[in-house]
Amino acid sequence: MGRVIAGKASDMAPGSLHKVTVDGRDVMIVNLDGTYHAVDDTCTHAGSSLSEGTLDGTSVVCGWHGAEFDCTTGKLAKFPVAIKDLQQYKEKNKGTLTESIATLSQIASSPATPKTIKKSIADMVSDLESGEYSMAVRAANAMSALEDITQDPNMPSFVRTTIWQAVAKLEGIKD
Ligand code: FES
Repeated sequence: MGRVIAGKASDMAPGSLHKVTVDGRDVMIVNLDGTYHAVDDTCTHAGSSLSEGTLDGTSVVCGWHGAEFDCTTGKLAKFPVAIKDLQQYKEKNKGTLTESIATLSQIASSPATPKTIKKSIADMVSDLESGEYSMAVRAANAMSALEDITQDPNMPSFVRTTIWQAVAKLEGIKD
């Protein structure tokens, strides 16, 4: 970058931060006790304007997440933000789906379950195991079928309760 006029020195008090645009680029001018330093104004973390941050010694502290840059060199001095891992829903869903299938398989193999219901539940288990739709869609379909099944007047109360347990698990599966 060649020599450019960024503004009047009298407008830049010691310890102050100023943003100027040079050749379409936002630049921050810092007056450190009469010595002027110029570095990019845009934080390399997430794009905040560093001239809206604060000065701490020779460090400019980003107002968004606290990154500190040495304004005499432009070097990142500190990044204090701890970033957590993201929740991965796919694996969580997989575990919940496996548990739901185990509960439904238990119902399908129980001698207390009426034959017609056994058949419906066994079909539902194979639908849940197939990869045709997303896990959330398969879970929603199974929940709707289970709601119908629980209306069956021949349903033993133990089986109905176990079905509700499976429904509660399936409800946790989201896209
Ligand atoms: S945008 Fe500057 S630290 Fe996040």
